[in-house]
Amino acid sequence: MKRFLFVILSIFALLIGAYPLIYVFVEHKNTFLGSKSLEVLQNLIWKIAFFAHIIFGGISLFIGWRQFGSQFRNKYLKTHRVIGKLYVAAVLISSVSAIYMGVYANGGIVSCVGFVCLGIIWLITTLAAVVYITKGNVVKHQQFMVYSYACTFAAVTLRVWFPILKSITQDPDNSYIAVAWLCWLPNLLVAYLINKKNGAAN
Ligand code: HEM
Repeated sequence: MKRFLFVILSIFALLIGAYPLIYVFVEHKNTFLGSKSLEVLQNLIWKIAFFAHIIFGGISLFIGWRQFGSQFRNKYLKTHRVIGKLYVAAVLISSVSAIYMGVYANGGIVSCVGFVCLGIIWLITTLAAVVYITKGNVVKHQQFMVYSYACTFAAVTLRVWFPILKSITQDPDNSYIAVAWLCWLPNLLVAYLINKKNGAAN
């Protein structure tokens, strides 16, 4: 069962991690960018933040899952370190951009606060994981990386929750506002339960 869930998680991570590539192939007005006001689109800092966010967010999601399988990690420790450094750099760039973009999020103050909180927690949990491993605390490093990836995985859960809520409520605007919170709060709860279970197993 654990293995099956890990495979499902990896498939979603690879698919949604590659999703930002649609911005290469699809005309921008037909993407999410078509939903932004002219004022936001003419803001150069927002535009740079957007592309930095989706490129590096995509990379973090695409590579991050590989860090969790203990067999792979024990066998290829050097690769684990290389992927880890890449993951952390990608999260730093993508999270800082996301915090900035969160201020301009569709849906007003409730979704703004939801995305900004997620961005801050994403940044802090990732940095905490780095600090713990530099101090040699492997258990805390693992626990904070579970929280960090639970935040990264919000990119997947957002795209699962949104169509479900939209089809139930027939209200895309309020569904989006709800999803700004729903895409990460349950993920952190699952991360907490995983850490608790792993703690009990240690
Ligand atoms: C985990 C922390 C994350 C936060 C706080 C965050 C935040 C945001 C925000 C605020 C927006 C703009 C929403 C709006 O203006 O209404 C956005 C859009 C977007 N984000 Fe993220 N994001 C996160 C993770 C990711 C990851 C890991 C990816 C990788 C695939 C990603 C890919 C995208 C894409 C592609 C868009 C454009 C919307 C779309 O085309 O569906 N995000 N994000």
